[in-house]
Amino acid sequence: MIQELEKLLDEARAEIGKVVVAAEAEGLRVKYLGKKGAVSALLAKLRDVPTAERPAFGARANQVKTEIEGQLASLTTQLERAALDQELRRERYDVTLPGRRPEPLGHVHPVAQTGRDLLEIFARLGFSSVETPEVELDYYNFEALNQPADHPARDMQDTFYVDSAALGERAPKSPVLLRSHTSSAQIREMLKRQPPVRIVSPGRVYRRDDDPTHAPMFHQIEVLYVDRDVSLGDLKWTLDQIAKGLFGPDIGTRLRASFFPFVQPGAEVDITCTVCRGAGCRVCKGTGFIEVLGAGMVHPQVLRNVGYDPETVSGFAFGLGVDRFAMLRYGLTDLRLFFENDLRFLEAF
Ligand code: PHE
Repeated sequence: MIQELEKLLDEARAEIGKVVVAAEAEGLRVKYLGKKGAVSALLAKLRDVPTAERPAFGARANQVKTEIEGQLASLTTQLERAALDQELRRERYDVTLPGRRPEPLGHVHPVAQTGRDLLEIFARLGFSSVETPEVELDYYNFEALNQPADHPARDMQDTFYVDSAALGERAPKSPVLLRSHTSSAQIREMLKRQPPVRIVSPGRVYRRDDDPTHAPMFHQIEVLYVDRDVSLGDLKWTLDQIAKGLFGPDIGTRLRASFFPFVQPGAEVDITCTVCRGAGCRVCKGTGFIEVLGAGMVHPQVLRNVGYDPETVSGFAFGLGVDRFAMLRYGLTDLRLFFENDLRFLEAF
């Protein structure tokens, strides 16, 4: 019986020596020391041991048990320490390595940036910003702006029409179109409030146009000021603030008589050429000025259309092309670059 004990101890030592992972150590603990383990099995045979040898057998059995326990315990500690070491080694990092590059961040599109800068100037002048629909009724885009169906001025602003007949009963009485300018905001806002009105209205507009300086979609900001005694001088002053605010104090504006059905008088507004600062160059074709927007005093009939009395209030309005301003600002000659989404171009800003 004693020999069996010794054999068991040798076996256990050999097996413990081969263990490499903690799970194996646990397996051996169960195998030798568990309730149904090898040591218990031997102790159960105590009855078969002659009485005289029992004390010696019992004592040796306890030693064997203690030894196996001790070996397994130190094995487990050893394995745990090794695992920890390995993990620490894996997590060690070299502080002298170059930092990780941040993912490239996008930035505001140059047209949007120009729009924001313009709106900020208007905000400082006391204009509040309102947005009105891009898909618009003919009534707000043309009719109420003194431009009835078949008016010849509509040709210049031919746009995209929406097939509203498909809506059947729900189709609006007025034709539906993609607005050709932000001037529709003038009507919508004046119908909503009483003078003084001092608003700007930014947004996308659409026309049947496509060449280096005209895209079928572009951006405008409509500017409208209606109050008592608003004059052409107020218009000119406001325009100058915009030109100087965006391009610098040496840039001014000039008005040339022009026609828009919803203003009286109407004007094309030029700003000092931002390339040659007025001296005359290729970009301004030697004139020293570049045409940038349409403007005028709100037509008395338009005021009447929204229920205002042209005898007591007057106003100015203008509509500026944001993309056009962005082109000037960044010295571009092809507007379409803005809409091609070419990262090489966009990253240049
Ligand atoms: N809506 C005109 C255009 O898009 C510009 C304009 C606005 C002219 C306001 C006069 C007054 O061309």
